[in-house]
Amino acid sequence: RWPDFVQVKEVGPRDGLQNEKKRISTSDKVQWINTLSESGVKEIEYSSFVHPKWVPALSDAHEVGKRIKRHPGVRYSALVPNMKGLELALEAGIDGASVFMSASETHNKKNINKSIDETYPVLEEVIKGAKKAGKHVTGYVSTVFDCPYEGRISPQQVLKVADRLIEAGVDDLSLGDTIGTAVPSQVDQLLSEILERFPSEKIIMHFHDTRGMAIANIMRSMEHGITRFDSAIGGLGGCPYAPGAAGNVATNDVLYLLNGLGIKTGMDETKLQEAALFIQSKLGKSLPSKSLAYAASQ
Ligand code: HMG
Ligand code: MG
Repeated sequence: RWPDFVQVKEVGPRDGLQNEKKRISTSDKVQWINTLSESGVKEIEYSSFVHPKWVPALSDAHEVGKRIKRHPGVRYSALVPNMKGLELALEAGIDGASVFMSASETHNKKNINKSIDETYPVLEEVIKGAKKAGKHVTGYVSTVFDCPYEGRISPQQVLKVADRLIEAGVDDLSLGDTIGTAVPSQVDQLLSEILERFPSEKIIMHFHDTRGMAIANIMRSMEHGITRFDSAIGGLGGCPYAPGAAGNVATNDVLYLLNGLGIKTGMDETKLQEAALFIQSKLGKSLPSKSLAYAASQ
């Protein structure tokens, strides 16, 4: 019933920090990412090569990329919105580029200042450029269940965007519950359509945990054969251009679940806890993860 192995992508340094008011210094980010690198995780999305005015917390993406210690077996990826971002990201030495757009017209416009139709040619060029440079490319689709501006998004809207990104050459798709509204019946509805079109290996689920539904949605996704999930250490995170978006599902909670179910991840809970406590102390506030809070109290 459950997969033998699940692959977790750590998005804390990118999704986790992009919405934080408190600035983390570049050297703290580097130390934190180096600790995360030792946790057994296979991919870390370490920053964003977006416009620094749009996401000031990640304006040091280039320096972070230059200074982190590359751990063998870890893919270091970053968000890339356009060719300017790709140029900077390649200079900084990314292993993977994550392009991103939204299934909702309004969220797309608020987040990247373009309509959906205007976005395709921009991302097609980025995908082509990144593939030519030999990089892995992930295509994020945001607001796959609900949009903070438009409400319910149909699976057909998601499929339209997913089809275009796959045609453009992305290696895989990460489907985002950007504001954390979905319940498992919505996961059923979307994944039954998506998996008719694409193999499960190409699909990553990206749940935010605004309403505490992420773990239930991960369970339901695994029942559909999904084995890849994005999460952020401690439950950090949120999209600055999606009002009401709380953190990603916490890597610590996901690992507690997977370990309990006997699913292999190759990850070390103690190392993750160390990384979570480090960033928690730098941010000066408790992170939302319950399994982290419990473990830290013992
Ligand atoms: P724009 O203002 O429309 O850009 O922003 P433009 O192409 O018109 O260029 C304007 C100026 O910006 C130019 O400079 C460019 O060179 C410069 P000027 O010639 O005027 O001096 N510029 C850049 N500078 C540095 N790096 C760049 C870059 N691009 C242009 N990459 C843009 C368009 C996409 C850049 C902007 O809207 C942006 O940066 N948006 C990012 C928003 C963002 O990061 N949102 C959060 C991430 S998405 C998310 O969290 C969801 C996800 O987690 C999944 C989920 O949860 O659903 C992935
Ligand atoms: Mg996100």
